[in-house]
Amino acid sequence: MVVGNWKMFFGPDPSRLLGLDAVVCPPFTRLADCVAAGLTTFAQNVHWDGEGAYTGEISPPMLLALGVTGSLVGHSERRQYFGESDETVGLRARGALNAGLRVVACVGETIEERRSGKTEHVLRRQLSVLEAHPNLVLAYEPVWAIGTGHTATPEVAQAAHAYIKSILDLPVLYGGSVKPDNAASLFAQPDVDGALVGGASLDIDSFTAICRAATRIPS
Ligand code: PGA
Repeated sequence: MVVGNWKMFFGPDPSRLLGLDAVVCPPFTRLADCVAAGLTTFAQNVHWDGEGAYTGEISPPMLLALGVTGSLVGHSERRQYFGESDETVGLRARGALNAGLRVVACVGETIEERRSGKTEHVLRRQLSVLEAHPNLVLAYEPVWAIGTGHTATPEVAQAAHAYIKSILDLPVLYGGSVKPDNAASLFAQPDVDGALVGGASLDIDSFTAICRAATRIPS
């Protein structure tokens, strides 16, 4: 599974992504365009309730009515800049799954947490609010690798993915500076089940190359 997270960028022409075996997460205002182009389209965030006085939020039924079939939750930028907590990540994941959306729940440690030996503790805490569900996929996104060009080595990613699966046995995507030239070595790891791609998903050639690398994983 390869997921492109466009973040708060306008992003490419969706019709040029047709035929790729991938999920796109455009900003809210472009969801309908991506659905209309025939892409598997997820939101970047979703509230847990069906409706209510929650200014600035979007609910699972609203996404489903648009033809959106899933959502990210708990991206580290939500946690870092918008006060997202483990508790609200758990609520968002549960609300979305109960409403029939697929969910990619993101976890990952900061560089300070890794340097002080707290990686496993942080991952365990972040995972403690989630329960296995057939429509739930996890994404390991070390914060120090996001948008920095410092991709985790395949070995570091593999170790974290194996640890995550020992707690919650679900598919785990890797995210953090995935590019065409490092995708294949990450995908070759036994517990790396795909990628959550930020910057490189905005460039059609790069995203296409990453999707191609994913289809070469032996099953
Ligand atoms: P990046 O972002 O690929 O630009 O590092 C990944 C993400 O934030 O999902």
